[in-house]
Formats: sequence, C-alpha cells, structure tokens
Amino acid sequence: MAAEKSRAVGIDIGGTGIKGGIVDLEKGELISDRIKVSTPSGAEPKDVLDAVRSVLDTLEVADSDYPLGVAFPAIVKNGRTLSAANVSDKWIDFPAEEFFEEGLGRDIHFANDADVAGVAEMRFGAAKGVDGLTILTTLGTGIGSAVIYNNVLIPNSELGHLQRAKHGKDAEAYAAYSAMERDELSWEAWAERLQWYYSHVEFLFSPDLFIVGGGVSKHADKFLHLLELRTPIVPAVHRNNAGIIGAAALSLGVEPDLEETVTGQ
Ligand code: BGC
Repeated sequence: MAAEKSRAVGIDIGGTGIKGGIVDLEKGELISDRIKVSTPSGAEPKDVLDAVRSVLDTLEVADSDYPLGVAFPAIVKNGRTLSAANVSDKWIDFPAEEFFEEGLGRDIHFANDADVAGVAEMRFGAAKGVDGLTILTTLGTGIGSAVIYNNVLIPNSELGHLQRAKHGKDAEAYAAYSAMERDELSWEAWAERLQWYYSHVEFLFSPDLFIVGGGVSKHADKFLHLLELRTPIVPAVHRNNAGIIGAAALSLGVEPDLEETVTGQ
C-alpha cells in the first residue's frame, strides 16, 4: 500500500489488549477499523511481537511504507524497556525497539503508552492549547501517566506506581480499572479509590488539568462527577484511541521535536 505523507500506523500495546489503526495525522483520527487482539498470556516478547504482526496483517499494512509508531506499557528510555508491571519480566532492560524493528523488518518509533496518549491529547484533544500543567492518566490494567507542561511532555512519569502509605500496594493495584473489575466494585466504591489517588496527585503537583484516558474513559459520566477536586478533570477526547493516535503521531517526521520530547532521544 502506498503511504500518504499525513498517514501513519499506531500500535498501542497494553496489559490486556493490543490495538492498532491507520491514523490521519492532519485530523488526528482513525481512518481504518480499530483492530484489537488480546495481549498473549504472560506477555513474553516473542508472543507480543507475533500479536503485533497479526494486527498489522489485519490492517493490511505489514508491507506498507506508512510510518509505524508502537506504544508499550513500561518505562522506555533510548529504545529499551526498563520496567515490567503488567508484562513479562523479560522486558526489563530489554532492547525492545530493536527487537520490534528486527522482527517486523522495518523502522519503528517506540515510546511509553501513556506518554503517547498524552501527545495525542496535546495535539488533537483535551490538552490542545492548554497552558500550565496537564496530567493525563490512563485507567486500565495499570495506571499510566503523561505529564505535560506548557505543551512539552516530561516522559516516563510512572504516577501509577505511587505508593499507598501503610497499605503495601501501589496506586495502580488499588485504583486502576482492573482493580475495580477484580474487586467487583460499584462505580461509587471505585470512585472512592480514585478520590484518594487524584487528591494525592493533586497535592503533589497542583496541576491545571487532569485528563482521564483508557477504555473506561468512555464511561466517564459514571464516575468523574463523583470526584471532588480543585483541578478540572475531563475524559480524553480520543478515549481509548489516544494511544493509537499518539503512537502514529510519534512516527511522523514532520514534527522533529516530538520524538525528542517523548523519548528523550
Ligand atoms: C506501567 C506504565 C504504563 C501503565 C499503563 C503501568 O503499570 O508501569 O509504564 O504506562 O501501566 O499501561
């Protein structure tokens, strides 16, 4: 398939699902179906690579020259994954970008999943033109975070791993959407956990805006109004597609600063 300059493919690897799509980067919209496969159990590198390949095949872009951005749920520094909260430990200190490039036979652009969701919302969504400090959190299998100050992303913030004093669990184990499912919580009961989380982050950072992404952001009307914060809190405009759109945006060369901003490279 011949690539058009303003189009790119984004793949968003999560702890539960691997999603992908072709994105129009002028509009910041998906122009293909959104393809999703389950993250293979154990999320070992080879199995994740196979799953990414199957998403590219279904999108019919495996051999295209569309730029490709891949987002991953771990700290990403200089192309290496440095942590593994909801994936195999093999990803710790692993040359992930090189591994995907070799396995897919093409160049990719590689970054943290929440950071690219932040980029998507900064370019095309709720953080567009917002001055000051925006904190985007994704509520999914884990909690991811993107910290954006005056339209510059500070990468790898990992605010899902804030520790809960006395409770022995980190924030995501207690307040991610997966915790709501695991503990069969009502929206109200989950909102109490979110109240603790966002109050704590608000106290630490005094942000100007919170954005909530992840799959559950499509149900924002069920829980956001239950939170009492000084900071405005809104759903991601691109909901759970922000990761795909941001990964694709990262791959396009027209904004040279963007990749630098996201990956520190
Ligand atoms: C990981 C983050 C990731 C988040 C959301 C956390 O467990 O440590 O890197 O952004 O999950 O996927």
